[in-house]
Amino acid sequence: MERTLVIIKPDGVQRALTGPILARFESRGLRIAALKFMQIDRDLAERHYAIHKGKFFYEELVNYITSGPVAVMVLEGTEGIRVVRAMVGATRPHEAAPGTIRGDFALTGLRNLIHASDSPDTATAEIDLFFSPNEIVSYARDIDRWIYE
Ligand code: PPS
Repeated sequence: MERTLVIIKPDGVQRALTGPILARFESRGLRIAALKFMQIDRDLAERHYAIHKGKFFYEELVNYITSGPVAVMVLEGTEGIRVVRAMVGATRPHEAAPGTIRGDFALTGLRNLIHASDSPDTATAEIDLFFSPNEIVSYARDIDRWIYE
């Protein structure tokens, strides 16, 4: 089981895609381990995107993620990080393959609906940034035995 952090960004929330995006992850078999709806403030955004500080798009990135409420979640499953990234699709929506979230719901620019951790180290750091340990729930679902051999 691998955990990953997913943020449905302000454009995803504003376009009423929170439910459809979350449903894709659940339908795939991923389990929700934590979930919250919030507005990211500048301090949290700067910590989340610290690795991009100094890049030409940094200010725009921080402004975008703080521009409205977001849905933040921890998802878990076998190869969860890689599976979620594949489901999300390419960074630029016009390059994202059909069948991916960005390829099906986004079109152009960098309003790309969703953020997902890109490696185990990043996932651990991002989960720690958004959730305290007691907000992450370990449990089994009845359906898991039909998903996991
Ligand atoms: S990099 O430089 O290769 O690490 O960047 P990349 O992985 O492509 O993207 C990292 C995040 O920055 C966002 N991004 C941008 N936002 C606004 N304008 C421009 N030009 C731009 N380029 C990249 C991109 O959507 C990624 O956001 P997250 O939330 O991490 O998916």
